[in-house]
Amino acid sequence: MKSTNVTWHVQHVSKTDRQSLHGHKSVILWFTGLSASGKSTLCVEIEKRLFTLGMSTYVLDGDNIRHGLNKNLGFSPEDRSENIRRIGEVSKLLVDAGVITLTAFISPYRNDRELIRNLVDHHEFIEVYVKCSIEECERRDPKGLYKKARLGKIKDFTGITAPYEEPFNPEIIIESDKETIEASVEKVIQYLKVHQYIE
Ligand code: PPS
Repeated sequence: MKSTNVTWHVQHVSKTDRQSLHGHKSVILWFTGLSASGKSTLCVEIEKRLFTLGMSTYVLDGDNIRHGLNKNLGFSPEDRSENIRRIGEVSKLLVDAGVITLTAFISPYRNDRELIRNLVDHHEFIEVYVKCSIEECERRDPKGLYKKARLGKIKDFTGITAPYEEPFNPEIIIESDKETIEASVEKVIQYLKVHQYIE
């Protein structure tokens, strides 16, 4: 059912006001990649670094969000798209609140990610592709999910029985099977500095 008879209410404190208060721009750092590629680890480390630098930050993480806001969604293509759509809207609100928002979702479909890119101003979306071979992800297998997927105990598992569409032109590529975590964190921080999101 669609919402009807709703009217947009204008607020008096703007996104620019909030960004001025925080002393930095707000942006979505959208991490995408296979399960066990390192998205969550990187988000946590980068947030820690930004927080230490005095930035307003927040991490939205797939596993965590699926315990609450998106607990009614599974892993069919439709549910994954709805998962990403909702997170896009939440991220947009956080950007409006002046927060540097880091998201760690597999987000396997290119089209879903492009919808988020188009939801905000062009400079407010940074796609970070956490590139890692499926062999390495399967070797890491921190939650034993690849093993279960190979045994047929999990259906529609990304990279095994469900697709992952690599980004064509991500702003940042992290090769998590080749780089150290420290180097990857530095790469993102430098990107934010060079592009004047932070000082
Ligand atoms: S998606 O595709 O963006 O909607 O997925 P996401 O919300 O990021 O959730 C991914 C985490 O859910 C666990 N999990 C699965 N992943 C992929 N495929 C299937 N079928 C699946 N079932 C459960 C898994 O722990 C994912 O976490 P990460 O951190 O990516 O390993």
